[in-house]
Amino acid sequence: MKLHFKQFIFSLLTLIFLLTTSQLVAQTYAKNGMVVSASKIASQTGVDVLKQGGNAVDATIATAFALTVTHPTAGNIGGGGFIVFLNSEGEATTIDFREKAPLASSETMFLDENGNIKDNSNHKGLLAVGVPGTVAGLYLAHQKYGKLPWKDLVQPAVDLAEKGFEFNWTLYGNALNFKRQEADYPFMATYFNNDKGEITQPNEVWKQQALANTLKQIRDKGRDGFYKGKVAKKIESYMKANGGIITTEDLEKYDAIERKPVKGTYKGYDIYGMPPPSSGGATLIQMMNTMELVDWENIEFNSTEYVHVVAEAMRRAYADRAEHLGDPDFNPDMPIDRLLSKKHAKNRFENLNMERASVSDSSKFGQIYDGKNTTHFSVIDKDGNAISMTYTLENSYGVKMGSKELGFIFNNEMGDFNPVPGVTTSGWQIGTKPNLIAPQKRMLSSMTPTIVAKDGKPYLLIGSPGGRTIINTVFQTTLNVLEFDMRIDKAIEAMKIHHQWSPDVLQYERHLMSPDTRKALEAMGHTLRATGGLGALMGITYDAKNNIITGAADSSRPEGAAIGY
Ligand code: GLY
Repeated sequence: MKLHFKQFIFSLLTLIFLLTTSQLVAQTYAKNGMVVSASKIASQTGVDVLKQGGNAVDATIATAFALTVTHPTAGNIGGGGFIVFLNSEGEATTIDFREKAPLASSETMFLDENGNIKDNSNHKGLLAVGVPGTVAGLYLAHQKYGKLPWKDLVQPAVDLAEKGFEFNWTLYGNALNFKRQEADYPFMATYFNNDKGEITQPNEVWKQQALANTLKQIRDKGRDGFYKGKVAKKIESYMKANGGIITTEDLEKYDAIERKPVKGTYKGYDIYGMPPPSSGGATLIQMMNTMELVDWENIEFNSTEYVHVVAEAMRRAYADRAEHLGDPDFNPDMPIDRLLSKKHAKNRFENLNMERASVSDSSKFGQIYDGKNTTHFSVIDKDGNAISMTYTLENSYGVKMGSKELGFIFNNEMGDFNPVPGVTTSGWQIGTKPNLIAPQKRMLSSMTPTIVAKDGKPYLLIGSPGGRTIINTVFQTTLNVLEFDMRIDKAIEAMKIHHQWSPDVLQYERHLMSPDTRKALEAMGHTLRATGGLGALMGITYDAKNNIITGAADSSRPEGAAIGY
């Protein structure tokens, strides 16, 4: 009996030790700088730049180019995205490098004679490609805020593409899938091949010479290496030959823009987010404003009440998003200040019934399908400059097409515009004006790169892929840290839900919600839908007083890592 008791105690202590140590390895600590991304190799590339004396902007540029090579499902030069930057002086800014509609695009370009979308053409084929923004965005960031020479920041990606890197199991799985669908995706079916013309095997070195050559043009000529000259001409001829409409004029006209961030507060913290054409910042701040009104003393995390009040805040903010938001250059009268105001959140909160689910009136608005394969990374340097960057090809591997000579994949971001003017359904479609297609317009995004600051210093850097779910997973992770005092890895892994107003469905992570909570929510009138996982958050928290950087990469991206020094 005594022996059994001793064995029990020993097993218990072993278990506690294993649990604690495995929790400890989930977070990475550092003093001098950190990069958290969906690729260990890309994170290391960014950290190497920090060690060479580069600042957070330099590390961001190097990480972004490296992700193009090592994480091509979303890392890109053929897509677009957003940077939110808080410098060590406490000044915040953003860079918008969202793709633009080509000059030859039109409001009804995806419709057949009956006004229906032709064969998924807003996501499929080269008409779905927006004019890429990534290279222009990174170049603008470098010109304004970079420290090391541009060439030194592109060169690591050139090396990764030319000399190769160890092929991983995730890429191998993708390669097998594309091979199986060779007839539909001929470019992707050979994209992962080795020199022998066979799919690269896990742990074998994978080289991408064509991509290396394109990156060399960018390295040597900066922005012009992509938007002018050889590469631009090849893009145009590839588009012409394969049914696309992007021309060298589109490329030459592309402009990345520095924009003022949207700013909100939560119980003394400052929140900096991406303004339109992203809907992320405004929608997140609106939901955080609503959360400030909740009586958290009496609501436990993950309880029925928690899920209900969070879902109802989402429902309301997403209704506003659908109605009002689009490219600011085409919608000068968007009511952003009103949406961000505490008063608006109060009005929204006042009609929230704590006992019953509201009903989304989807006779007016709905939601379109968004790709889930964006990627986010967070960067902080030794001086406390902080960057939160999200960029995307829209779907996983974008439009799954590209020129073999150029070696990179194009986005299918045109699918983020409202496709059928005036038609909004309860299923998936929105037809509201602010986000209709027009030449040179930027499509509305859900990307939500976010920085929370405390006393002017970065406190939380966070973002995620996930299409329209992005705003909600970033919102909940922010709430987890600010309201529930969770450490960053716990905040990232904790249960997430998603409600986007219409369709009127509450998604939840199947493995993290109890059956009792589910039943209680259904009794309140919620329609639930289980999902395997929401978000892939890459976050950093910073304790400025003690100079401790803590980072964590979502376990849903096994190739990702928080690396610091
Ligand atoms: N393509 C995903 C987004 O921009 O929201």
